[in-house]
Amino acid sequence: MFDAKKIRGDFPILKRHVNGKLLAYLDNAATSQKPRQVIESVSDYYSNHNANVHRGIHKLGDEATSLYGEAREVVAEFIGANDSTELVFVRNTTEGINLVAYAWGNENVGEGDVIVLSEMEHHSNIVPWQELAKRVGARLEYVRVERETGELDWVDLKRKLQLKPKLLAVVQVSNFLGTINDVANIVRLATRHAPRAKILIDGAQAVPHMPVNVSLLGVDFYAFSGHKMLGPMGIGGLWVKRKILTAMQPFLTGGGMISEVHKKKTVFADLPDRFDAGTPNVAGARGLRAAVKYLQQMGMKNIFEHEQKLSQLAITRLSNLGFVKIYGPKDSNRRGGLVAFEVKGVHAHDVAQVLDSEGIAVRSGHHCTMPMHTKLNLAATVRASFALYNTEEEVARLVQGLKKVKKVFRI
Ligand code: ALA
Repeated sequence: MFDAKKIRGDFPILKRHVNGKLLAYLDNAATSQKPRQVIESVSDYYSNHNANVHRGIHKLGDEATSLYGEAREVVAEFIGANDSTELVFVRNTTEGINLVAYAWGNENVGEGDVIVLSEMEHHSNIVPWQELAKRVGARLEYVRVERETGELDWVDLKRKLQLKPKLLAVVQVSNFLGTINDVANIVRLATRHAPRAKILIDGAQAVPHMPVNVSLLGVDFYAFSGHKMLGPMGIGGLWVKRKILTAMQPFLTGGGMISEVHKKKTVFADLPDRFDAGTPNVAGARGLRAAVKYLQQMGMKNIFEHEQKLSQLAITRLSNLGFVKIYGPKDSNRRGGLVAFEVKGVHAHDVAQVLDSEGIAVRSGHHCTMPMHTKLNLAATVRASFALYNTEEEVARLVQGLKKVKKVFRI
């Protein structure tokens, strides 16, 4: 049975007190906390197995190499890759998207080509494409997002696909609006209107919170971060359809990604080493493996349902306050476990500060989604984002904290 209260026991940091109050950590979309199983797996790697991979003919070198390879297999299987060589370990979603923008984009996007994004993208899925567009003379187009519902405008998506883009890059779950985009429908429309377009999905807020199978989604690139899914910082994944990855040039070059180096030329290694230049983050990969095992044990479907329940409860209780405006879909079936809102008449940072005084950690600001905030005439919002260990009591504390905001600012 899924039991958030029991799960909390695995997370040492959740016992912390902040400003004299038990920590209520509601900033999981920025980064999640880590269970002891993840912390111990990183420690175990450094305590018992540490050596560089693919190099020494010695016991520890062999162990490190096989532990790294096994971590890749576990993570690849978790996201539904057909084969572990389709998974490139990167630092985070941002690096994964940059990898595609350089290694695939430089070769495949040219002058006058179109790249389609949506207005709800976060900066990691905007800036790398702006830079690619500058390098090659391509142009960006943004699919409209409905102001009131926080949903993609599907008619506009169709219109943008009719421009025959080289690439469509869209977030699966918005880190600001919470919207869950229907990737299957995006793929269906792209197949009909722009069959040659490649599709990249930013899965940073999806993989930690819902079942994801990249092969079944039918996309070409899928990027995610380990640190948002209970894993360590500095490790994440980029999945690329094998046929595309095989044809891609390396992103970073140097040691570890070669099979032969001569004074004037180099032959690159096969997958997956070709995208593993330099010493990789083996301890991070072990930690991410432990995070995946933990999530699998709890069950992604259970996690999804639990977090949706919390976000529905938060939406209902925050709406009832009467001085809070919530952004994104009102229907919890259409959104992931996060709620961004505005307290009328109080700056988001002030709200976050009062909540912090109550031990409640939320994010305030533009959440790396400035274009969507600008569209909604917002400078900043407050965001509460849930993970598997959050509870209804913490939603109640958030509500109490907001009542204190009302009192302090006399609104
Ligand atoms: N995407 C991260 C967040 O939403 C930065 O906080």
